[in-house]
Amino acid sequence: MVHLMHLEILGGNLTITKFQQDPTNVLDCGTGTGIWALEFGEEHPASRVLGIDLVPIQPDWVPVNVEFQVDDLEKDWSFNTQFDFIHSKTLGTSIKNWPRYIQQLYDATAPGGCIELSEHALDGYNCDDDTMPADNAFSRYLEVMDTALKKVGVNPHLHSEDYRKMLEDVGFVDVKTYTFKVPAGGWAKKRSLRRIGLIMAETMKTGAEAYGLSLMTGLGGKTPEEARVLIEDVVEACLRPKMHAYYLEWYFTAKKPE
Ligand SMILES: C[S@@+](CC[C@H](N)C(=O)[O-])C[C@H]1O[C@@H](n2cnc3c(N)ncnc32)[C@H](O)[C@@H]1O
Repeated sequence: MVHLMHLEILGGNLTITKFQQDPTNVLDCGTGTGIWALEFGEEHPASRVLGIDLVPIQPDWVPVNVEFQVDDLEKDWSFNTQFDFIHSKTLGTSIKNWPRYIQQLYDATAPGGCIELSEHALDGYNCDDDTMPADNAFSRYLEVMDTALKKVGVNPHLHSEDYRKMLEDVGFVDVKTYTFKVPAGGWAKKRSLRRIGLIMAETMKTGAEAYGLSLMTGLGGKTPEEARVLIEDVVEACLRPKMHAYYLEWYFTAKKPE
């Protein structure tokens, strides 16, 4: 569902980056289900796509040009090739040491190659019309997640300027930021935004618990009952939105100099 939401944001495209020809070696960091890597491999038959994740949840039956490997991207990278294109999507709360991760992205990019990152901030719910009270379901949920994530060394407050600076600091050039609104639920008047919001609400039906329950009870200090109330409030806020809340999804593109 998150993949579908990104396709909707990008007008059906897998990337913002435009390719004159298929990039030869492609890396998808934290590939998850592998759906992006599989579709990229299909769309770019001359590319070889490697998807990396901590967990082997990707399918076994894959196109000949797509491969999945289990690995930890926070350890030293030991790929025997450099990549012409690296894709990294929604690893914000997966990566603890972002400057090191970005340095490894840079080192693994071939000269002249490019990368695309997409991220959002966990604390990033906004509202433009005063329909979101200070004490709202999102901020209550995020407060507990914040406490829990800090205990495992994750910074949930990285924003677009932080990612941009890290990319520039390691030497990437032509760094561009593209910002999109993701409404929390189907409240937007504009049809395209309403579709994105409805998909977002659908992801929250199962995602709010999948992302939150273990952290909230394990490290956030909540009982399962308390956590479930927070989760249900967030799901309700998305499914039947009274608040016109949205977050920003940032896409960053950058090049490694020749
Ligand atoms: C939020 S999901 C994003 C999945 C995919 N990129 C997408 O956008 O659909 C984060 C993924 O990163 C993986 N992950 C987290 N930490 C990782 C690490 N240190 N090394 C490799 N993968 C990691 C998780 O297992 C999970 O599949």
